[in-house]
Amino acid sequence: MTLARVLDRIDADLPKSLDRLFDLLRLKSISADPAFAKEVRAAGEHCVALLAEMGFEASLRETPLHPIVVAHWTGPVENADKHVLFYGHYDVQPVDPLNLWRADPFDPKIETIEDGVKVITGRGSADDKGQVVIFLEALRALLAEDGRLPVKVTVLLEGEEESGSPSLEPFLAANAAELSHDVALVCDTNMWARGRPAITTSLRGLVGEEVRVACSNRDLHSGIFGGAAWNPIRVLTKILASLHDDAGRVTLPGFYDGVADLPEEVRASWDALGTTAETFLRPVGLKTAAGEAGRSILEQVWARPTCEFNGITGGYTGDGFKTVLPAKASAKVSFRLVGAQDPDAIRAAFRARVAEMLPPDAEVSFHPHGGSPGFSMPFDSPWLTGAREALAEEWGIPALLIGSGGSIPVGNAFARILGMPTLFVGFGLDDDRIHSPNEKYDLESFHKGLRSWARILKKLA
Ligand code: BES
Ligand code: MN
Repeated sequence: MTLARVLDRIDADLPKSLDRLFDLLRLKSISADPAFAKEVRAAGEHCVALLAEMGFEASLRETPLHPIVVAHWTGPVENADKHVLFYGHYDVQPVDPLNLWRADPFDPKIETIEDGVKVITGRGSADDKGQVVIFLEALRALLAEDGRLPVKVTVLLEGEEESGSPSLEPFLAANAAELSHDVALVCDTNMWARGRPAITTSLRGLVGEEVRVACSNRDLHSGIFGGAAWNPIRVLTKILASLHDDAGRVTLPGFYDGVADLPEEVRASWDALGTTAETFLRPVGLKTAAGEAGRSILEQVWARPTCEFNGITGGYTGDGFKTVLPAKASAKVSFRLVGAQDPDAIRAAFRARVAEMLPPDAEVSFHPHGGSPGFSMPFDSPWLTGAREALAEEWGIPALLIGSGGSIPVGNAFARILGMPTLFVGFGLDDDRIHSPNEKYDLESFHKGLRSWARILKKLA
């Protein structure tokens, strides 16, 4: 049977697959920092070379920021009636604070951590280079054993995901016919736990907004002017504090428009996972849920929208003490969205709240940082069936259907712009430290994830 031979080849070639991942991990493709633009491009070129070497028609396509890799398989396929689009990202998050890394973030290694678990270390190992490479290596093994792919495959890899994907939507719109196929496969999500595979059927959207408040024309002495002059920190914190009520709900008018109640079937399956506020929060040193009263912890992170403050500045924050009355204060605010919540409407409601609470002597400016709606797929989607079977066969245990509180804007963009469904299958773990120092990807995620993709592609045929 070919599948058995393909899986054997994956096992035998694992060291070579890891070498190819390590070559990609060594490239410092930090999309957010313009100083690394050349390395971002080099990582894109590296992906093009990997795909071309396998026989794909692969090229780097320019955008106003970082290039996009597009590759088409034009060789033989088992079932030419099915065409999948694989999406992933080859850019990574910045590495700071660098001093907290145990090793160079761009010098990947295999390490053994607690309980003898073997991991691949380095920035991007889990998010998302490791998860991209397992898909590419599955294609390589299928081609090597079979001389053809199970279904038609187009690969789309972007270099701006960690910067909010500004070029992606225009690119999808401009190349809709080329990229619109039966289903998009995305490998940028997590398993439920070590050894327990999962398909993510919902992700939250995201609105990012920076707000800057300015009052006096310079910093003032807080004794001479305090009580008389407006303090922008006081102005800003009063506004921010107005955004949640005592039950943890966001108070912006219309904020919950488009937020549906959880279908009973979904609620029951999430409840069956047995997660409590205690078990969810204990690993991060907390005990009690901060979200909306009366909602389960998984509902709070997977199915409810939020308003969070990601950063706040103003006044004197250095050592010692300074009695300053600052001229300026600013905050970075983000909203995670679910269901049909409209990012533009939420940004507008936030700006309206700030404007309405602003005293006459304060000036405000707003700086948008991207916006995308949430994603969800029905439990009865036909695309779930084959993938669940394939995952169960590889892992020896049924795959769970989970939600994610994180955001991958493409899911919604594929539906909206390309009219195609998206299947999110990923092998990351919640303790992979993505975006943090000492990012890792379990060797088991890499190996069994690679085998899982070969099985899923076969199953799709
Ligand atoms: N892969 C992550 C999102 C993710 C993490 C999904 C874990 C499921 C489980 C993705 O690369 C990411 O970090 N997204 C950002 C949004 C982006 C617009 C900066 C996020 O969720 O903050
Ligand atoms: Mn990420």
